[in-house]
Amino acid sequence: APAVIVAIDGPSGTGKSSTSKAVAAQLGLSYLDTGAQYRAITWWMVNNGIDIADPSSIADAAGKPDIVSGTDPAAPAITVDGTDVAGPIRTQEVTSKVSAVSAVPEVRARITELQRSIASAAVQGIVVEGRDIGTTVLPDADLKIFLTASPEARAARRSGELKGADVAATREALIKRDTADSTRKTSPLAKAADAVEVDTSDLTLQQVIECVVTLVEEKR
Ligand code: C5P
Repeated sequence: APAVIVAIDGPSGTGKSSTSKAVAAQLGLSYLDTGAQYRAITWWMVNNGIDIADPSSIADAAGKPDIVSGTDPAAPAITVDGTDVAGPIRTQEVTSKVSAVSAVPEVRARITELQRSIASAAVQGIVVEGRDIGTTVLPDADLKIFLTASPEARAARRSGELKGADVAATREALIKRDTADSTRKTSPLAKAADAVEVDTSDLTLQQVIECVVTLVEEKR
């Protein structure tokens, strides 16, 4: 079968990562977490004292860190200048700053180029998850999925076992990040015109995975 390119976009807390990894593993495809790349460049900016409130400082530094992404869905890896940052990119500090960094056009240009070269090197094909994959990064993808879920379902998934006030705080932070990602000028979070929308609010992860696997198989 020729290489199949699958773009999976949507806001956070919709099950995008879990779905993308499982679909790639099940179908023997490569996997790319583009959010991890934006988190990695944000981690580098924070660690190098770049003022996150100043887009021109971010733009000037955008070409400096060397970001390398693994494409094995069973062991997603990411390094910055040779350092494993899989853990540090998930801190609350990076999460709260990533939208500002990813809104800078020079950052997007750099990361987009990286994403396209990784996708074109995937011999069997690849599942690429993010916010602008179907609209901007890989507009010719064979299949585009746009995952959605109610704010309540998304906050509950992100909070895990947390209760009450923690769920409310998580919900606020999620909405703030999605609003920033959806309203920025350069390639905002958006559903491509030819994407299949899947509302995951009332579906189990297993159901979402099955749905996407079926859609990919129809394209192969
Ligand atoms: O998917 P994740 O929550 O890890 O993404 C972190 C952030 O990276 C998003 O909130 C967004 O600001 C940015 N991002 C982006 N474009 C992508 C993927 C992620 O701007 N394709």
